[in-house]
Amino acid sequence: MIISFFSAQSYDRTYFDRFNKTHEIRYLETTLNEQTVALAKGSQAICPFVNDKITEGVIVQLAEMGVKLIALRSAGFNNVDLAAAKKHGLTVVRVPAYSPYAVAEYAVGLILTLNRKIHKAYNRVREGNFSLEHLTGFDLFGKTVGVVGTGKIGQVFCRIMRGFGCRVVAFDIVENKALITEGVAYVSLNDLLKQADIVSLHCPLNDATHYLINAESLAAMKRGAMLINTGRGGLIDTKAVIEALKTGQLAYLGIDVYEQESELFPHDFSESVIQDDVILHLLAFPNVLVTAHQAFFTEEALTQIAQITLRNVDCFEQGLPLEKVV
Ligand code: NAI
Repeated sequence: MIISFFSAQSYDRTYFDRFNKTHEIRYLETTLNEQTVALAKGSQAICPFVNDKITEGVIVQLAEMGVKLIALRSAGFNNVDLAAAKKHGLTVVRVPAYSPYAVAEYAVGLILTLNRKIHKAYNRVREGNFSLEHLTGFDLFGKTVGVVGTGKIGQVFCRIMRGFGCRVVAFDIVENKALITEGVAYVSLNDLLKQADIVSLHCPLNDATHYLINAESLAAMKRGAMLINTGRGGLIDTKAVIEALKTGQLAYLGIDVYEQESELFPHDFSESVIQDDVILHLLAFPNVLVTAHQAFFTEEALTQIAQITLRNVDCFEQGLPLEKVV
């Protein structure tokens, strides 16, 4: 099968070429949108990533050129118009689980870095400044961590935080019984926000969760709390978060995802003038840590992403049952 591979990075080629035996992969560095979709001409499948926008306009063009399969190399599928895909007869598959540990461990990394200010200490020491001024953190032991979404990633995160000696409260539309027996308490979203010293988001982005964190929910949070988002940018209203940071209602923000990230991640703008005032504002805060959607980025995850995506394409080509269909 010929696969047009959008938003290709060097590491994608490394891992996909390692495991691909049968398909012709056309690596395209450009993101997928209504202007670039024509590049998929001649292929039967496309392989998009998280910031490729698979709108109805894109899908109509894909259907016209004979593309039959959208093989997402991501877990999230909020960037696909699923109704349009169904209407135009395109199958959508994804990689629902590649390494929940990669993302959960990364969320913990954001917490530790923000809390203990390891990023600041690293820079200071390299300049010969061994002062501890303003590096004070807090013990995680005994603190309350609120986890929104206890699926594959959220449950790993809950267990790690229990290992730190934290009290873990969770909110999900489906309760995980194993977590309850392990000591995680399910509460309402409002109670979670009221009780948690740290709130970490691990639910998908959809109509129900868009701007889950907004001015109202920020006001309900404990004053001085930490907010961590490794889910999707649209889970939080960034402008409302900036206001909460300015008043001190929110004392720390760690985000690996950003509402307007498709314009920025994962590209190098170090020699350009960034036009996004919101991210520039965020970067000006000393208590904000932003990374460019790298929580998934481990060898184990990249291996699984390549293997499962290629298996999805194989099964589709051979008419075998599709396990990872969206
Ligand atoms: P999952 O599907 O296993 O778990 C999601 C959980 O969220 C489920 O338990 C579900 O019941 C819950 N949920 C759904 N709607 C909810 C709502 N309205 N309120 C509260 N909970 C709700 O998904 P998984 O694998 O744990 O991934 C979670 C999210 O993490 C993905 O949707 C994706 O957006 C994000 N992600 C981010 C990555 C990164 O590199 N930063 C990498 C992989 C995933």
